[in-house]
Amino acid sequence: MSRIAYVNGRYQDMRDASVNIEDRGYQFADGVYEVCEVRSGQLVDMPRHLKRLQRSLSELRIAEPMPLSALSVVMHEVVQRNRVRFGIVYLQVSRGVARRDHGFPTKPVRPSVVVTARSIDPAKGADNCARGIKVITVPENRWPRVDIKSTALLPNVLAKQAAREAGAYEAWYVDGDGFVTEGSSSNAWIVTQDGRVVTRPDKSGILSGITRGVLIEALEALQIHFEERPFTPQEAAGAAEAFTTAASMIVMPVVTIDGHVIGSGKPGPVALRLREQFHRFASFS
Ligand code: PDD
Repeated sequence: MSRIAYVNGRYQDMRDASVNIEDRGYQFADGVYEVCEVRSGQLVDMPRHLKRLQRSLSELRIAEPMPLSALSVVMHEVVQRNRVRFGIVYLQVSRGVARRDHGFPTKPVRPSVVVTARSIDPAKGADNCARGIKVITVPENRWPRVDIKSTALLPNVLAKQAAREAGAYEAWYVDGDGFVTEGSSSNAWIVTQDGRVVTRPDKSGILSGITRGVLIEALEALQIHFEERPFTPQEAAGAAEAFTTAASMIVMPVVTIDGHVIGSGKPGPVALRLREQFHRFASFS
């Protein structure tokens, strides 16, 4: 079956879908995006993703391409047309097409919108989870506005590649003060030896992950102790457990950091429980 993409108002076969070569997303990474989990054909935590998209657009002064309710319709349509039951839907909005010039276009242009969706075999995630993933650390080298979900992801691309070349699955950034910020495409967490779940506050240094936000609510409901504070790779190496979260990974147990075995070296009970419970606290639409 051929894949269908939504591109600027049209549903097209992916093979024929294209954007203008002067799209500012292409030339300057002048755009934002969202990735939403698809589960049993439904979109997980869609309203939160759209709200974050709205914020990213507003921070970059990119116009909203259409009402959020219409974007939601398009995303559902792309999921359906591609018959995705389990996988992800990707939404990208760029500032639009204009003659190349760093400053914003002087005449307003229409933002470009692309939506794609693809199936991911749930067994893959389950497999990774059963084994637990390896993480390496890399120096933080991104701009300070990582709260904006921008398509400018070159440092993240290089960090993920460094992880792969080291035989790991994810890279966690470490800032100039020696604290973990987040992963190249996920938020970082540990569980202390006395059972407290710890993650960095979203005031600075991280993207405010939707999975992170839902999980914090889940922790409260499950009466699991939670601390929002930075932690170092050294603390993580001595922790009982570690895990990383994203719409594309849910809760993914981490078993080594830079080769240091965490806890028993197997996925920890807290991470596994949170992964199992997560969707009870998520919204579906
Ligand atoms: N990434 N931090 C970064 C840098 C991310 O890229 C992501 C998600 C997260 C987790 O956010 P959320 O829980 O809302 O997915 C944190 C997506 C999945 C991606 O780029 O593919």
